[in-house]
Amino acid sequence: MSAQTTGVTARHRRPQALVIAIDGPSGSGKSSVSREVAARLGLAYLDTGAMYRAATWWCLHEGVSLTDTAAVAALVRAMPLEMGVDPAAPSVRVDGVDIDAAIRETAISSAVSAVATNLDVRAELGRLQREAIAAERLPSSFSGGRGVVAEGRDITTVIAPDADVRILLTASEEARLARRALDVHGTDDAAAVRATRDQVLRRDADDSTVAAFHVASDGVATVDSSDLDFEQTVQAVLDVVTEMTGRRS
Ligand code: DC
Repeated sequence: MSAQTTGVTARHRRPQALVIAIDGPSGSGKSSVSREVAARLGLAYLDTGAMYRAATWWCLHEGVSLTDTAAVAALVRAMPLEMGVDPAAPSVRVDGVDIDAAIRETAISSAVSAVATNLDVRAELGRLQREAIAAERLPSSFSGGRGVVAEGRDITTVIAPDADVRILLTASEEARLARRALDVHGTDDAAAVRATRDQVLRRDADDSTVAAFHVASDGVATVDSSDLDFEQTVQAVLDVVTEMTGRRS
């Protein structure tokens, strides 16, 4: 049957959904860069770190000890989580409560590794992440079937190893600490960087026991943002997308 007789011409055929997976350590800029790339390409944006943060918030809210790994996993399996994937206004709700601001608080940042290293939690959130990525292939999804930029520690390796584009966004330890200090304390002077050190380096050390995100595996492109500003980093990622898919932004 020719394309004409089915009513679908090459010009009108919907382009295949594009899945872009981006991982990297804390402070590499992966969240803000992924969000901007999604907005420019008309794709959905999935912040998987926010899902681990939401799980942590939910367990603390429900009064479950994070060391009780079985209780934490059971609670996460029943968590009424809604992830908003609009890159212009990503949102996280649990049980109808908007927790966007709450999950960025230091109490959550300090506790999240205990939840992110729980293997049963990883299995459940991994399942939800695969589901959210697959959903963006559908015309009824937020992106209208255009696809998604999914971001987080094990996205390129465990969750979406078959993504069209896989990028490891890195930056030197110095650059990552300065950025996080600026984010959290509004300055990157020596005291702010010292205060940020534990959050960034300890958390990466804890998290790297369950997800490898410092070295790119086969087929994963590395973008080093140490000497790049935000716009240059976004452009470098868009260049990799064009290179790997032939699609221009
Ligand atoms: O990127 P972030 O700081 O919001 O991530 C929050 C925590 O969740 C951090 O400890 C890393 C962990 N995480 C993970 O283990 N796997 C992911 N896919 C995303 C985040």
